[in-house]
Amino acid sequence: MQFPADFLRNQLVSVLERRFGERPPEPLIEPCADPRFGDLQSNAALVLAKRVGIEPRALAAELAAAVGQTEWSLPPEVAGPGFLNFRLKPERCAKAFFSLLGDPRLGIEKADKPQTVVVDYSSPNIAKEMHVGHLRSTILGEALARVYRFLGHRVITVNHLGDWGTQFGMVLLGFKRRGEETGLENGPLEYLEEIYQEIQASAKADPTIREQAKAELRKLQNGDPENLALWSRFVEASKAELARIYEELGVRFDFTMGESAYRDQLASVIRELCAAGIAKPSQGAICVFFPNDPELQDKPFLIRKSDGAYLYATTDLAALRFRVKEWRADRILYVTDGRQRLHFRQLAATARQWGLPVVIEHVWFGSVLGEDNKPLKTREGKPIKLRELLAEAVRRAYAIIAEKRPDLPEARKMQIARAVGIGALKYADLSQNRNLDYVFRWEKLLSFEGNTAPYLLNAYVRMRAILRKAEAAGFSPGPGPLSSEPEMRLVKLLLDFCPTLERVESEGRPHFLCTYLYEVARAFHRFYECCPVLQPSPQAGGEGTESLRAARLALCQGAAATLGTGLDLLGIERLEEM
Ligand code: ARG
Repeated sequence: MQFPADFLRNQLVSVLERRFGERPPEPLIEPCADPRFGDLQSNAALVLAKRVGIEPRALAAELAAAVGQTEWSLPPEVAGPGFLNFRLKPERCAKAFFSLLGDPRLGIEKADKPQTVVVDYSSPNIAKEMHVGHLRSTILGEALARVYRFLGHRVITVNHLGDWGTQFGMVLLGFKRRGEETGLENGPLEYLEEIYQEIQASAKADPTIREQAKAELRKLQNGDPENLALWSRFVEASKAELARIYEELGVRFDFTMGESAYRDQLASVIRELCAAGIAKPSQGAICVFFPNDPELQDKPFLIRKSDGAYLYATTDLAALRFRVKEWRADRILYVTDGRQRLHFRQLAATARQWGLPVVIEHVWFGSVLGEDNKPLKTREGKPIKLRELLAEAVRRAYAIIAEKRPDLPEARKMQIARAVGIGALKYADLSQNRNLDYVFRWEKLLSFEGNTAPYLLNAYVRMRAILRKAEAAGFSPGPGPLSSEPEMRLVKLLLDFCPTLERVESEGRPHFLCTYLYEVARAFHRFYECCPVLQPSPQAGGEGTESLRAARLALCQGAAATLGTGLDLLGIERLEEM
C-alpha cells in the first residue's frame, strides 16, 4: 500500500524535478517534530535554496503552491525559516487505516528488487571476554538484519569471529608455560584472557617473550599439529561460551565464520591484487595505494607485513571476495565501533579498485560511557564483561517486578524480569543515534516512564489486555467513526510505520524505529485515557455505540500489531502481562 509520507515524497520529487531538474537528499519528508504544526514536514526548501539561488521561504512558498491540496493532504503551510508543514486529511487516513485491518504485514510490501544483504556483526575476538562494545554491535546488527529481512531482502548474518589473530601466539605460549589447564572447561573466555594478560605482563620484563610468541603463532599458521590442536580447543570452548550469551540475547547467526575460515585464501588475495596492479610492494611489505582518493592518498592499506605475516585487512579482503563471489552479496553491513572507520574506508576503496560489484557500509557506533563520561568500566576500572552486565540487568528488573507484582508465581516473575531486563538493555542502546556516545544509567533504562523498553512493553501489555477482554465479551474490531484528536493522532502515526522502517533501512539507524514506537505508545496512552474502548459512550447501547467500539478496538489492534512487530524487529521480547 502507498502511505501518506511516500505519497507526499513522490509529489515533492515530481515538482522538484520538473522545476529544477534535481532533488535534495533524503529524507524529503519526516514526521513533524511538533504535531501541533502538522503531521509531516519537509525541509527540502532549506536544503535546496542555496543551490538554486532562491531565498528559502520564497522557495518553500513556491513548492507549497505547486503541491497544493492532494488526495491525502490539505495545502501545505510554510513555517519558520522555510519548512513545509503538511496536514493529512482525517477521512482519507481513516479509510486507509481500516483497509489494513487484520493484515499481519500492516500493508508493508516486500521490496520489489530484493537485495542480498550480508550483515557482519558481533564478531568478538576470541581469547578475550566480550565487552560492551560487542554488545552494541550485536544488538544493532541483529535489529538491522531483522528490518532488512522484514522488508523482503535476502539477509545473511555472519559472526566474523577474531579467531586467527596475533593474540593466539601469546595465548599458546602462556598456556604452555603454565603447564596446567584447569579453567578451559568452565569460563574459557575469562581463562584465556587471564593467560593473555599474564603473558603480556611477563613480556614487559622479558623481551624475548614476544619473539617466542611470534614463533608460536608462525607454527600455528604453518599447520603445526600441536598448536593447531590447542588452538582448536580454545576456539571450540570459547564458541560454546559465546553461544550461551547469544542464546540469552536471542541472537542467531546464519554463519559463524571466523577469520580462520579464510586462512587458505590469503596468499591468493595478495597475488590477485598484485597482478591487477592494485597492491604493490613497499619496503618489503605489500600495500594497496589510493592515489586518486584525496582522503586516502597518504594512507596505504597494509595487507602483508615485511615478515610475510597477513593482517586483519587481508582477512577482510578474502572475506569480502568470498561474500561477493559465493553469496552474491549486493550490500555488506559491517557493524563495529567508530575507531575502525579508516579500515573500512580503505576496504571499500580497495573493493572499488578491484571492481567488486558490492556496496560496503560501515555501520559504526560510539562508546558507552559511565556516569563520569568516560568509557564504561567496573568500579575497579576494568572493562565490563557482557555476561555480568546481562545478569545485572535481569537482577535489577527482577527487583522491580517483584515489587510491582508480588502476586505472580516465581517462575513468571523471573520470565518477565528476563524480558524486561534484557529488553531494557537492548533498547537503551538502540534508541540512541548510534554515532553518538551515550551515558549508561540503570535507573534511566529501567524506568517505566520515558523512551524506554519498560514503557513500551507496558503499553503493549495494556493493548493486549483490552483486546483479550473484548474477545471474551464477543466484540470485534471493525470500521467506524473516528474523529477526535487523540484517535486521529494514533491513526496517522500507524500509517507512518512503513516509511519509518524505510528510513531505518536507508540510514542503518534503528533509533528512528525506537522514536517512532515511543510516539505510538504515547499516543496510545493518551487515546486510552480520553476514549473509552469497551463502553465508548455514557449511555451504553445508544446509537453508534457498536461501530464506535469496533473502530476503537481496531485502533487497539493496529497499535498492538505495530508496536509488537516493532519490538520483534528490535529483537525485544514481547510480554502478555507484566
Ligand atoms: N573482531 C573485530 C573486533 O573485535 C571486529 C570484526 C568486524 N568485522 C570485520 N569483518 N572486520 O574489533
